[in-house]
Amino acid sequence: MALGATFGSTGREHIGTAEGALGVVTAAALQLASSPSLDETAPTMLAAFRESLGASEAGLWLDGPQGLALHTADGDLFTDRPTVEASLAAPGATSVLAVPIVLAGRRLGALAVRGARADPDPLPYIRTLGAVLAPLIGHAQHAAELEAEVAARAREIDEARRFTEKIIDSLPLGLYVVDRDFRIRAWNRKRETGTQGVSREEAIGRTIFEILHRQPGDLLRSEFEETFRTGRIQQFQMESVATGDTRTFRISKIPMRLSDAGVTHVITIGEDVTDWKEAEKRFMQGEKLAAIGQLAAGVMHEINNPLATIAACAESLQLKLDDLRQDGWPLTPDHSDLLRIIDNEVHRCKRIVDGLLDFSRPKTVAKELLHVNEIVEQTLFLLQHHVRFKKLQVATHLDPELTTLVYANREQLLQVLLALLLNAIDAVADQGTIIVRTRAGRTATEAVLLEVVDDGMGIPRSDQDKIFEPFFTTKAPGRGTGLGLSICYGIIHDHQGRIEVDSTPGRGSTFRVILPASEGV
Ligand SMILES: Nc1ncnc2c1ncn2[C@@H]1O[C@H](COP(=O)(O)OP(=O)(O)O)[C@@H](O)[C@H]1O
Ligand SMILES: [Mg+2]
Repeated sequence: MALGATFGSTGREHIGTAEGALGVVTAAALQLASSPSLDETAPTMLAAFRESLGASEAGLWLDGPQGLALHTADGDLFTDRPTVEASLAAPGATSVLAVPIVLAGRRLGALAVRGARADPDPLPYIRTLGAVLAPLIGHAQHAAELEAEVAARAREIDEARRFTEKIIDSLPLGLYVVDRDFRIRAWNRKRETGTQGVSREEAIGRTIFEILHRQPGDLLRSEFEETFRTGRIQQFQMESVATGDTRTFRISKIPMRLSDAGVTHVITIGEDVTDWKEAEKRFMQGEKLAAIGQLAAGVMHEINNPLATIAACAESLQLKLDDLRQDGWPLTPDHSDLLRIIDNEVHRCKRIVDGLLDFSRPKTVAKELLHVNEIVEQTLFLLQHHVRFKKLQVATHLDPELTTLVYANREQLLQVLLALLLNAIDAVADQGTIIVRTRAGRTATEAVLLEVVDDGMGIPRSDQDKIFEPFFTTKAPGRGTGLGLSICYGIIHDHQGRIEVDSTPGRGSTFRVILPASEGV
């Protein structure tokens, strides 16, 4: 526009003369110098040039980074090669004058007019405009090339950034990075989930104290300062209820150095190790039970013999007393009672010892393909006459769709279910609800689930780790041996299964036996 205005005001009296062409050249130079966009200035410039030379047409061919392009005086821009090449050939044209536009030996394009007036000779003007245009076009092309290069680099950098971002977002870890001012510089997507999740957009640039405001600021600061100061990795475990249930996280604070001048950032990684910890605990429990079992087996063997001796002595004393009584000795009934107590107690000891031996002796038991629902029904049938079961109802929720068989020993499964039911009865103190439930699991190694649910007193959290240990009991002496669950544990372990408990003190407990499918064994 400015070019047209310039030409219009200064060139009006020159229209139709070659001096007009000179004005166009000057105006073009000025215009391009202030705005090196050829697309904008070319049509106006060419139209003015065409008019000043009295030509029928003026065109500018450019061979730039985007390929060959043709600007016309009518404001058209052709970029498809065949059209541009056809116009260059200009078949049947009369008096076509064209000059190459060359800069430092490189041909940038060509400027041409068709049907120009012959007097004065238009060629010098075309040449001059070509010469004026050359550095400007070169500059514009260079700028366009640079711009394209910058854009390509920016795209590359952006792609690289997105790639690393994707990596840290795909990790099954919460990760964030703070700088020396405790400002958050990176925050992965995992940190956005959970009830205390904060979005990346919200977190980046804020201080860690603003974002993790639930954690004590002093503690947080000292943890970071420690890593900044020592340059060493710190690791610790932490419990969190952010996702609803209690989960254990292993937190690592890792120093990062952008330069040689010490730690510039600290990377914090939070890894959910709840399942791993559970597995480790189960493993330790198994190890401990095995060790106790071996120990107990040895001790029990030693105890069995003296017990047998005591029982035999008590029996022969009893016979002796009977003889003496028959011989008329004045014996009080006390003596017999005392012997009976000895006998009873010896038998109680023997039951415990047998129970322990049962638990600790490596057994090869006959296994068969069984349906867990059937075991439940059989157990309940056996129990229906048991005095303690008469008072309450045991409900069953047996999954009729459960078709998976387990490879197990019938008596042992009965024993497990019986032990769990007896514990449930103790827990509800003869007045509560007990449910036996079966259902299908999700995998072949966890194919069948058998649960005993009660709404009894529940188990304090501090005891939940101990109940499977032999001799752990909270029951009065004589009522509990503390062996029931440890025997269950041994049996289920022997069946490649798992036994676990969910319990809320005051609300009740669920004992869950998980067994593999028969073909999974
Ligand atoms: N269903 C239950 N509800 C509450 N506590 C239970 C339940 N089952 C087991 N317990 C706890 O676990 C302990 C150990 O159980 P167990 O090994 O069967 O031994 P015992 O029944 O002889 O005490 C019990 O003393 C009790 O404290
Ligand atoms: Mg018990």
